[in-house]
Amino acid sequence: MLICHCNVITAKEIEETIIDLLDADPWVLIVPAKVYHAMHKRGRCCGCFPNVVETIIRVTETYHARLQAPGDVVSHLDRVRALRVQFGSRPHEGRTTSHRAA
Ligand code: FES
Repeated sequence: MLICHCNVITAKEIEETIIDLLDADPWVLIVPAKVYHAMHKRGRCCGCFPNVVETIIRVTETYHARLQAPGDVVSHLDRVRALRVQFGSRPHEGRTTSHRAA
């Protein structure tokens, strides 16, 4: 699935980059800009960043669950989710479907 239409980046490429970052340091703070920098890309319209954040949370949870790390990471991710509920999260990127490549 294509996540970033500007840079033509798939979800699989983003997931692999996140896992590479976690392999280098399991406790690294990963943000979309860090993922794109590791891929030698950069955000252009940044409309994909909410989806990248969701991917970061999902992959990090799975990674740490596989490592059977203490529950602190999961509780932190739950707090991030609660903040998104509190401050809102746009359900879509704000673009019309005619501007999507996929
Ligand atoms: S869709 Fe990713 S930077 Fe525009």
